[in-house]
Amino acid sequence: MSRIAYVNGSYVPLREASVHVEDRGYQFADGVYEVVALRGNRLVDAQGHFDRLWRSMNELSIDPPMTEQAMRLVIDQLVRRNRLPNALIYIQVTRGVAARDFKFPKANPAGSESALVITVRPAKLDHSQQLRDGVRVVTTPDLRWKRRDIKSVALLPQVLAKQKAAEAGAFEAWMVDDDGFITEGSSSNAWILTRDAKLITRQATNMILKGVTRTSLLRFAEEQGITIEERAFTPDEAYQAVEAFVSSATTFLL
Ligand code: PDD
Repeated sequence: MSRIAYVNGSYVPLREASVHVEDRGYQFADGVYEVVALRGNRLVDAQGHFDRLWRSMNELSIDPPMTEQAMRLVIDQLVRRNRLPNALIYIQVTRGVAARDFKFPKANPAGSESALVITVRPAKLDHSQQLRDGVRVVTTPDLRWKRRDIKSVALLPQVLAKQKAAEAGAFEAWMVDDDGFITEGSSSNAWILTRDAKLITRQATNMILKGVTRTSLLRFAEEQGITIEERAFTPDEAYQAVEAFVSSATTFLL
């Protein structure tokens, strides 16, 4: 069965889905996105992802293409049409199509011109073997801009980091800031558990993306009475740790 995507108001077969060559997402990476897991036909942490998408749009003055309620209906419809109980939902909003000019296009009084694409892709959300065996991580300098709290589609540093990991046979790259502290993974948050049973993950400032999975894990850890420290840690501390792991919508905890 062919996969169906949602592109600017239409449900279309994925192979026919396309956007305009002057979409500002394509030319300037002027857009934001979310990845939400669908497990057994249920969205995981949906509210957290919608809240962050709206925050990202707001930080960049991108008009929401529709209301959250309407977007939830589109996603329901897409999930139904794609018939994939376990999947990753990709939502991308850009500032839309305009002749190439760095500054924002003039606002249209008729409403939002933002472009919206949503895709559903089958995903193996069972990581039990990797959980058992563990995964490898490399470190790499963090080359990104200073607004990492915005989930922008400008992902070139993360592309390079993940490629470095792949070439080293590793699963993820942990990016290291100029002071020698780990910021996060190229597409995940980074955690360690110290020998004295403290759970450490970097504090959520503009230096990292505040993962929705991270927020849930912190809540679970707190409920379990685990001591939590939200602070930066070094690769050396990670080597000394009893456990080190990543979290994201795609891996959960690994
Ligand atoms: N990435 N940090 C970065 C840089 C990320 O790109 C992601 C997620 C996370 C984890 O956030 P969350 O728990 O909300 O998924 C942290 C997604 C999965 C991606 O780009 O594919």
